Parts: sequence; C-alpha cells; structure tokens
Amino acid sequence: MQKVAIIGAGRVGETAAQILAEQETSREVVLIDIREDAPQGVALDIAQMAPFFHFDTRVTGSNDPSAMAGAEVVVVTAGVARKPGMSRSDVLEVNVGVIDGVVDDILQYAPDAIVIMVTNPVDVLTYRAWQRTGWPRERVLGQAGVLDASRMAAFIAMETGFSSRDITTIVLGGHGDSMVPVARFCTINGLPVSQFIDDQRMAEIVQRTRDGGAEILALRKNSSAYIAPGASIAAMVDAISRHRNRLLPCVALLNGEYGQRDVAMGVPCVLSRAGLRRVIELDLNDVEAAAFRASAGGVLEDIARLPAVPADRTG
Ligand code: 2OP
Repeated sequence: MQKVAIIGAGRVGETAAQILAEQETSREVVLIDIREDAPQGVALDIAQMAPFFHFDTRVTGSNDPSAMAGAEVVVVTAGVARKPGMSRSDVLEVNVGVIDGVVDDILQYAPDAIVIMVTNPVDVLTYRAWQRTGWPRERVLGQAGVLDASRMAAFIAMETGFSSRDITTIVLGGHGDSMVPVARFCTINGLPVSQFIDDQRMAEIVQRTRDGGAEILALRKNSSAYIAPGASIAAMVDAISRHRNRLLPCVALLNGEYGQRDVAMGVPCVLSRAGLRRVIELDLNDVEAAAFRASAGGVLEDIARLPAVPADRTG
C-alpha cells in the first residue's frame, strides 16, 4: 500500500501512526489535524525513531485536509474523548459535527479510500460516515472489536498464565456497556477456555472487558486508552494493506446479518484489500442472541439522535 492518512493527531492517531510506520504497512503515513503545528511535530518525532527501527516509511503532518489525497485508507480519530464518568454516547453531539466535516473532506480528497472510523461513539459514527458518504459498506468500517477482543485476551492471559499468542477471543455488539464478549467462542490454541476458567470467573472477565476502556480512563484520569487502540487500528490497516483475509471483529453496516439492518455494530468481518469482504454470522445461542439484540437497540437509539444529512451533502 502506498499511503495511509490519519485524521486526528491526538494520542490514538499518533500511536497508530507510529506502529504503522514501524511495521512499514504503507510507504507513506500522513497525519492531519486542525491544531496548528501539532501533526507536523508528531510526524517529526516518529520520523526520528526510524534509525532505531530501520523503517523507511515517510511520515508527514499537515493542517491541510488535501494532504490525504491518494490515501488508500483513511483512519478517523478526530473528535473529543469522554471524561471520567461519561459514557461514549455522551460525546455524540459534539463528535458528529467534527465527523461530518471530516467526511466531507474525505469525499473531496480521498473519494476511493477505505474509511476506518475510530472516534466515539464508534458504532454510530461509522453509521454516520456510511450515511454521509453514500459509499458501499465494504469501504466504511469501524474499529472497536479488535480492541475489545485484545482486552479480553489480555485478561484471559493474566488469569491462566498462557501466552496471549494462543488466545482467541471474540467480542460482538456495540462498543459500549452492552458489548457482547462471547466466552463460548474463546479458545486457548483451539481448546475451549471453559477448560481453564470456571463460569463465575469468566463472567467477571466478560464484565471487565465491557468496562475495559472505563477502567483505563479511571486510572489514567486525564486520558482514555490509546496504546492498545493504536495497535488495533494498525492490525486492521495491516489486514487491508496486505490483503490478508483476516477474520477480525469490526464495526460494519449490517444488511440482515444477525437479524439487523440499517445499523452499524461489531461483528466478525473478513478484511482484505477491498475492505470488508464479508460478515461472518456466528451461531449464537438464545442468551447471546438476546444480548446482541439489546446491544443493537442501544446503538439504534443513538442513531436516532443523529441530525438529518442535508440532501446535497450525501456522497
Ligand atoms: C476505549 O475503549 C477509547 O473507546 C476507547 O478505550
């Protein structure tokens, strides 16, 4: 891949840029932010790390949205983060205004890109980006499940002592309090996790996964998580860039899958060069399916709060 653009050079954006540069996922990474000088500073800092890690990725920063021209993937991290005690939905009104402007820039300067939405509330804003671009769902995705699944895997590794390399987890639903970590599909190198963790302890891990972002925010106090979120973005971009056909939980527009449509939320997705290749439907039991439906209900409530898209602004 030639070029990735990251909109928003805050901590999540800069961490993603750093990992992508280090891994040479694309030839070029451009960070774009409205804060004067900020993206240029971040880009320089990352470029000066190159001698240690021996990468040739060209990293630049700009305040001009036209710098995203030619990007095959545009990652959107711009917007405000929640403060301790707030839910992700509490920042919807302010962030939808930010995202609408970013989407208009993408329509103008990177009309063929694949968009990865990261700004919260990510499910609703992925839906908004899809609605405002008018693009096929293959090119408008959101990052949440990769992060939530990595949190769950980390907790299972801490609990069992097994290498996190061998742990596979899956988290569905909205990226909020009603997310659906599916313990039944978690394995340790193919073995069901229930062989190593009893039901009660697993229920605690499921809840800790749901609260994973809030736990870090409460501990850091002045910052949401950004290191694992940055790594999660890099994993999605890598899957697209290297045409890996990876099966990753991502926010995607549902078109009847899981009995839902006209909503974006976390489901297992196959990612390749074209973006979303397909959504995989899991055979959920009644309890899991009910939890998924409840999570969809929450996302739909937030979607109903979105202002209408003016007819002349859809792509
Ligand atoms: C998180 O879960 C900020 O939503 C992000 O940490």
